[in-house]
Amino acid sequence: MTKDSSNQMWGGRFAAGPDAIMEAINASIGFDQRMAAQDIAGSRAHAAMLAHTGILTDNDAKAIREGLLTVLSEIEGGTFEFSTALEDIHMNVEARLKDIIGEPAGRLHTGRSRNDQVATDFKLWVRDQIDAAISGLEALMKALLTQAEAGADWVMPGFTHLQTAQPVTWGHHMMAYVEMFGRDKSRFEDARRRMNESPLGAAALAGTSFPIDRYMTAEALGFDRPAANSLDAVSDRDFALEFLAAASICAMHLSRMAEELVIWSSAQFRFVTLSDRFSTGSSIMPQKKNPDAAELIRAKIGRIFGANTALLMVMKGLPLAYSKDMQEDKEQVFDAADNLMLALAAMEGMVKDMSANRDSLEAAAGSGFSTATDLADWLVRALNMPFRDAHHVTGSLVAMAEARGCDLPDLTLEDMQSVHGAITEEVFGVLGVHNSVASRMSYGGTSPVRVREQIARWQEAL
Ligand code: ARG
Repeated sequence: MTKDSSNQMWGGRFAAGPDAIMEAINASIGFDQRMAAQDIAGSRAHAAMLAHTGILTDNDAKAIREGLLTVLSEIEGGTFEFSTALEDIHMNVEARLKDIIGEPAGRLHTGRSRNDQVATDFKLWVRDQIDAAISGLEALMKALLTQAEAGADWVMPGFTHLQTAQPVTWGHHMMAYVEMFGRDKSRFEDARRRMNESPLGAAALAGTSFPIDRYMTAEALGFDRPAANSLDAVSDRDFALEFLAAASICAMHLSRMAEELVIWSSAQFRFVTLSDRFSTGSSIMPQKKNPDAAELIRAKIGRIFGANTALLMVMKGLPLAYSKDMQEDKEQVFDAADNLMLALAAMEGMVKDMSANRDSLEAAAGSGFSTATDLADWLVRALNMPFRDAHHVTGSLVAMAEARGCDLPDLTLEDMQSVHGAITEEVFGVLGVHNSVASRMSYGGTSPVRVREQIARWQEAL
């Protein structure tokens, strides 16, 4: 091979170009072209700073900044020809800039390296995804609030071990997810605050001898400050890991909710009806309406948490500062981000469209002896019985009802008194599911009064 076939960006000391396999394993342009806009924003900020500090002439900086906009419009317009020989987005953009503006393009890379460049681009990209996740979560929470408000006093069974436990309100159940997604949102906000330091100007690893102004580029790119240690700045991928960790927890919450929708929309439960827009049919069983979107959301945690694990494994054991291993960061994050945004949007759509079946919820709320705890509490309150004894008496009454195939409110006063003589008519007041939920007035409890307070608090917060 001739010297001409070696890389035009760094080939000075190379007599031959890379093997095709070397090129294939080395190139990232196939995926990092997604960071083109961030790369160009970073380069434009860098060029402006180089002129401001007198490192470049104003004319050169102007040519660079304008040329970069031309490159951006070519990329956005789909006319840009990406080259694998140029490895990555950084060198593809710079090479095209040279075609367009000539000599000044070669001055853009003064006082920086691809190491601080890629860290900057990737941070900007991840930061945009954090913002998108926050808006996606807010939209989903609003959809949940609407559901909660409509059914703040609708009763349904609350479960533990997926066995009927105590009646709760539909609004309360919806608001449980609002709490979860609210924490997810705050995790993304925390991650954003922590990551918002600019790597640009850290150069290859040690900083630069040029009198650059890192505060200026940090500000131009919306960072709070420049990262304080150049070695750390080029080798840190915590920001991507924190994004993936927050995304994983959020995907886990989405998965739990999706699982409930799958169960609730089944013929056996009929708690909710999913809209046609978010369901699919079966090619063989005409009666079927499948909750595919919920099932896919349930599964998305797999690839998102997989990406988190994969990037942790890539980063573990890497010596400072940059190593090419770190090029393996992007595809994981891209895939996780794409799927998280899709899952958030699909869940929002499903929640917005779904209708809760009030009657089925109410019928199910009273089954399974769901007010047994209310009966035990009544024995404690009305008869001053120790709770353990009340638990025992109630257990006997549940056994009696079970043997007769009826529910607790269907027992007669005589039945009750056969187990404990002091029980009075008044007990039937606590066996109804509406009374049960209304009585749970403790802070955070399921009473519609408490639920409406939480709805109001979140409406205000959002
Ligand atoms: N494509 C590379 C990456 O994604 C850019 C940084 C390359 N730096 C280097 N010293 N080879 O990490």
